[in-house]
Amino acid sequence: DGNEENHLVCEDHNMRNTEMGTGKSKENALEEKCGCESEISHTVEREVIAVDKNSEQLPQVAIGGPKITAPNVPAVFVPVNRPPGVQEARMKLPVLAEEQAIMEAINENDVVVLAGETGSGKTTQLPQFLYEAGYARDGKMIGITEPRRVAAISMSRRVGFEMGLSSENVSYLIRYEGNVTEKTQIKFMTDGVLLKEIQSDFILSRYAVIILDEAHERSVYTDILLGLLSRIVPLRRRRGNRLKLIVMSATLRLEDFVQNEKLFRIPPPVINVESRQFPVTVHFNKYTREDYLKEAYLKACKIHTRLPPGGILIFVTGQQEVRALVRNLRKAFPYRRMEIGSEKEESNSVKLEESESEDDFPHKKNPKVKRSDEIHLPIIDLDEYPVVSSGDVDEDELVLSDDNRDMEEEIDDPKATRAPMWVLPLYSLLPGHKQAKVFEPPPPGSRLCVVATNVAETSLTIPSVRYVVDCGKEKRRRYDKTTGVSAFMVTWTSKASANQRAGRAGRTGPGHCYRLYSSAMFNDQFEEYSIPEMQRKPVDDLVLQMKAMGIHRVINFPFPSPPGQEQLQASERRLILLGALQRREGSSEDDWAARITSLGQSMATFPVAPRFAKMLALSHQQDLLAYTICMVAALAVPEVLIDTAGNKETAAFRRMWAGTGNSLLLGDPMVLMRAVGAAEHAGTTGGLASFCEKHALRLKAVVEVRKLRLQLTAEINSAIPDLDLVVDPQMPPPSDEQARLLRQLLLAGLGDQVARRVDPETIKDEEDKMKWKHAYRCGELEEPVRIHSTSVLRREYPEWVIYQEVYEVEGQRLFMRGVTAIEPEWLPSLAPALCHLSLPLPEYTPTYDSSTDSIQCHITGTYGRAAWNLPIVQIE
Ligand code: CDP
Ligand code: MG
Repeated sequence: DGNEENHLVCEDHNMRNTEMGTGKSKENALEEKCGCESEISHTVEREVIAVDKNSEQLPQVAIGGPKITAPNVPAVFVPVNRPPGVQEARMKLPVLAEEQAIMEAINENDVVVLAGETGSGKTTQLPQFLYEAGYARDGKMIGITEPRRVAAISMSRRVGFEMGLSSENVSYLIRYEGNVTEKTQIKFMTDGVLLKEIQSDFILSRYAVIILDEAHERSVYTDILLGLLSRIVPLRRRRGNRLKLIVMSATLRLEDFVQNEKLFRIPPPVINVESRQFPVTVHFNKYTREDYLKEAYLKACKIHTRLPPGGILIFVTGQQEVRALVRNLRKAFPYRRMEIGSEKEESNSVKLEESESEDDFPHKKNPKVKRSDEIHLPIIDLDEYPVVSSGDVDEDELVLSDDNRDMEEEIDDPKATRAPMWVLPLYSLLPGHKQAKVFEPPPPGSRLCVVATNVAETSLTIPSVRYVVDCGKEKRRRYDKTTGVSAFMVTWTSKASANQRAGRAGRTGPGHCYRLYSSAMFNDQFEEYSIPEMQRKPVDDLVLQMKAMGIHRVINFPFPSPPGQEQLQASERRLILLGALQRREGSSEDDWAARITSLGQSMATFPVAPRFAKMLALSHQQDLLAYTICMVAALAVPEVLIDTAGNKETAAFRRMWAGTGNSLLLGDPMVLMRAVGAAEHAGTTGGLASFCEKHALRLKAVVEVRKLRLQLTAEINSAIPDLDLVVDPQMPPPSDEQARLLRQLLLAGLGDQVARRVDPETIKDEEDKMKWKHAYRCGELEEPVRIHSTSVLRREYPEWVIYQEVYEVEGQRLFMRGVTAIEPEWLPSLAPALCHLSLPLPEYTPTYDSSTDSIQCHITGTYGRAAWNLPIVQIE
């Protein structure tokens, strides 16, 4: 019945023909429910739960009057045995007060929207309500999607802990990693994982409930899921096997999914959880200064030395900044514990795993600010150390004036405290156990200070934060709509995000938020809301996945906020270039009916971006599969090599990975592959962790690459009978010839990201000559682009290269990452779209030459003049 299902969500999702999630009146819905044996009701009075849940005799069946329940449906209460103290903590959460209203709404409606401030307990408690109401019985699961992996892992742990259940029952699944078992009842996963599951089981038959968490973040996958689930829910209802959908969100722009006729003809009920938000006083800086990292440092120092106890949460834009700030704050206010009667000394136990390079910290630039290591702080004996009491400080002082900006004075002020600071980093790539540290109370006598990226904005709530320092910026990938080239940009965040950040200060008591920018900046430069991800990034992946599901007219799909038409067109174009889609004969660009090709179909089965998927699909023909799998896996996992900006060692390691061979024959993706191969090799003798540490490899990433290799290999094996490919960790490095073929494969996948070095001799203007020295022209970018210093090719300057991405540093300089040298004569066959052939050459189809084991394209003629002025090249 795959066809029927597909039909429902595709082509013409005509509302009148489609039964909608909440399309029925309440009475009808109830009538229908009574006839359905799998229906569950929840009529437990909250008081009863509060008393009974922790007592010895847990009730098997809830007590409480049947309010909305038809007589024949038994009320269900699945007991939970919580560890001591958990119930008291739960009772303080605002959602607990609404449990009954929430569960009634869920029983009565198939789709419910639950809105509430971050920290009100939505993520941790809803799965528990549902579990207790019996939604996880009979082999069915409660599924919760998170846009961030961090959240999926940490929430599954937390919920498992609160329920006294092991990870066998409360599990998580993120890409290539997880602990799901046969017994899993509550499953946290990233939204991408659920989307993949829909592709193999469209009606999600194993789930009784799907919770889409953090829907306000508007991640692409959550948005697609919302569209798909708006069709799956009625489908399941018609089959008498209901699926409940709960959309959870901060109280932001709910109308996008509530008042959206395309999604839900009748708006689903919205339950608002009132949360105790204490007042937060917002202080703007008088001026907006460029160097927000320095500003953040100064502000944190001031808060710490002057203000009453309470955690500090600092928002900066990226991992690098987090680390730099953590390092410097730790130096300024070191935490050291002297164990009585012993020589042993323990310093900040959470180590950052980077080298102690100071390059990226602003002290150097401002000689007025003392280098933190010049501040002589004694080793602190906490027993003697006075803790600032709130009584000493006048409330007025809470308003830090912006005028006194001299830290020297602050530090030298005898009244100022030098209590240790318990400084912790928080960003998404931080290993899980280190992330978990932020939830623990700081050691006595010290002040908690968390330096975070916007991970801490909504998905994680850190207890006891009283001061928020907000730089007002966030790091975003910006994509050029026409070229598809991405650049990392630090931009102002939105007003909604800034307010979310401020709100983090008011969770446990009144708080203060220090914004490191002026109110004029906030009013004039900040957007109201962040634009949903779907509308700001290329949707190639999305389009390919939808087409593979038989949804051809992606433009008609009920997205909460659909991508722009030109965005969709650009993606279709790129996919057509990659050979994944094909226009039907005679059809034009705007008929939106390009169909998926068989190449595209096999690309869609790989859980990696279309570019990489194409490399895999083509590699099969080249007998290079094991290498391609390893390379694609290494490319698909972020930050395998630890790249601290300006870290010379990393560059040295990259060169080392290149070996003594000619790095022109390799390039960065292949160096990455070799590094992974070498690590695995070391791993066979048990030395993986130390090897990684020694060679600037991220252990977690290496393990993830391994899992991805296994998964990709399994998928390819199941697609190709009798292949029986096995992952060989000891894979020898590719031969030169194999390396050449791998570079050709890379070109096949990255064929629209070709760059050519500009010959300075062709430039007359002296200034321009300097500007373009060693620089490349990339696609339609006007500015010179350089090879980043971490690349193995950084000194080689090959004339023709392909790159994984271009990104912007400090808002102006452009760099290429993931660079590979190519030969121009490969272009006509592997990137034909770049070549405007001056002779009609229909027969330039590449042929495989077994004597040289390479792709050959026999062309006689000229080609050149691509969109970006390639000179005519003669090739034979
Ligand atoms: O989802 P929502 O933002 O509404 O709240 P939540 O994530 O369910 O968090 C509820 C409470 O649990 C917060 O006070 C968190 O600080 C706490 N929590 C915790 O103590 N440890 C965790 N690992 C996760 C949450
Ligand atoms: Mg949450």
